[in-house]
Amino acid sequence: MASEMDQLAEELEKEVWASYTEAVRDHAKNPRNAGSMPNADGFAVVTGPCGDTMKIWLRVKEKVIRQATFWTDGCGPSIASGSMVTELAKGKSIPGVMRIAHKDVLEALGGLPEESRHCALLAADTLKEAVKDYLAYQNEPWKQAYRKRGTG
Ligand code: FES
Repeated sequence: MASEMDQLAEELEKEVWASYTEAVRDHAKNPRNAGSMPNADGFAVVTGPCGDTMKIWLRVKEKVIRQATFWTDGCGPSIASGSMVTELAKGKSIPGVMRIAHKDVLEALGGLPEESRHCALLAADTLKEAVKDYLAYQNEPWKQAYRKRGTG
């Protein structure tokens, strides 16, 4: 009985993921850089039009993204997109990371079905907002005393 249920679950999972690339499946099931970052240098939380939210934390040293992490309450493709966008961000300069667009996330994932393309947009938008947060913080260091970091 259990094996019949397992088989059914396996078939259902295959069906659900059938329209996604191997890269999307991999990043959704084994997300890279998942989780919050204490004392981040940049942080943003963005809610997309679908109502799902993504958070991104950045560690920046000498104007280069050394680490980027994310969290989302969204769908599988949003997990894959958060995972991929944080991978793309690592090692980039500030101008370089600001150039990461949702088409870059889509390309790196090998594409997403039309109905899931906004998930990549949410990831790219959240990354941009986290960089803007970093830049604002650089321009206004006096805010350091009270700015909320690493939570949200
Ligand atoms: Fe909302 Fe994917 S459906 S982020």
